[in-house]
Amino acid sequence: MALVLAADEEAILTAVSALAGGELVAIPTETVYGLAADATNGDAVAKIFEAKGRPHFNPLICHVSDIVMAERYAVIDPLSRELMDMFWPGPLSLVVPLKPDSGIHPLVAAGLDTIALRMPRGIAGRIIAAVDKPLAAPSANISGKISGTSAEAVADDLGDRIALILDAGPSEVGLESTIVKVQGDDVLLLRPGGLAAEDIEAVLGRKVHRLDQRAAILAPGMMASHYAPSAHLRLNVQDVRQGEALLAFGPRRVSRAEHAAACLNLSEAGNLREAAANLFDFMKRLDSPGGGVIAVEPIPFDGLGEAINDRLARAAAPRGLSINEMEQIK
Ligand code: TXA
Ligand code: MG
Repeated sequence: MALVLAADEEAILTAVSALAGGELVAIPTETVYGLAADATNGDAVAKIFEAKGRPHFNPLICHVSDIVMAERYAVIDPLSRELMDMFWPGPLSLVVPLKPDSGIHPLVAAGLDTIALRMPRGIAGRIIAAVDKPLAAPSANISGKISGTSAEAVADDLGDRIALILDAGPSEVGLESTIVKVQGDDVLLLRPGGLAAEDIEAVLGRKVHRLDQRAAILAPGMMASHYAPSAHLRLNVQDVRQGEALLAFGPRRVSRAEHAAACLNLSEAGNLREAAANLFDFMKRLDSPGGGVIAVEPIPFDGLGEAINDRLARAAAPRGLSINEMEQIK
């Protein structure tokens, strides 16, 4: 079983030497826990896919300690640079062209000539700076399961597959990073996440383009079925059926809520940031191994609501479809 260490100075040093030695370490970031490996070490990166059981064509986010490190590996255009200046460290990943012979292992970007870069807040940044290598880190969960937002969740999922988990308490944001890509003068939203697209628009004074669903599926990693609780999700419910669990939002209750087998409210106050932070944990708590149904109340689409609805739609999608199969049901 993995060693779970409270993230004090000694534990950080242990993590740094494990990472430098090509081992995997689950590390806390402000979005979700990451399953980290030295991004320049192909063997270490391969261990990530092994541990997660993740399809290889899904490229990984590369975590850097600062913009200087980002510039060592990638070509940063002025608009991407502006976004880094405004939002780093924080829950924003930018897809940018890799420098030729950058040293980042091709497995990280699944053979693409671009890389998703992110500078996380908190101790993750200190770990990266100490290793002095970018760290490839997908969310620390088995592929297709809910992203780990606490050391306990990571241990439940990956405890028998990795040696070390650093514990820094529950993730502050609770949703993966927002991913954008600058194309010419346009900013494209590849994945809604912990930074609201509106916040980016406010800072840049320009529109962030949402991809339509078809384009989104063609973009790597935008497969529908990413989050898959065992239970079936019934979205935007107006009432609760006998035996269903209820994932509620806000002060108003749907009708027949008293029929719910269990009920958790993402945010009594209707606060979307609070809802985001609770989302994965509550889906997991309402999930039942044998199936069952989780009824989900409507959640507004503004701000972080876009990402929450995106995650819920993925959790509700048919399981295990390949990109080709997704194409066919379009
Ligand atoms: O908050 C987060 O982003 C977390 C924490 C650990 O940092 N990481 C995370 O990584 O969610 P992961 O590997 O689970 O998600 C990576 C996403 C995938 O959807 C992938 O396809 C996309 O990033 N991605 C990575 N590189 C890309 C690229 N070059 N072009 C387009 N999308 C890319
Ligand atoms: Mg993930």
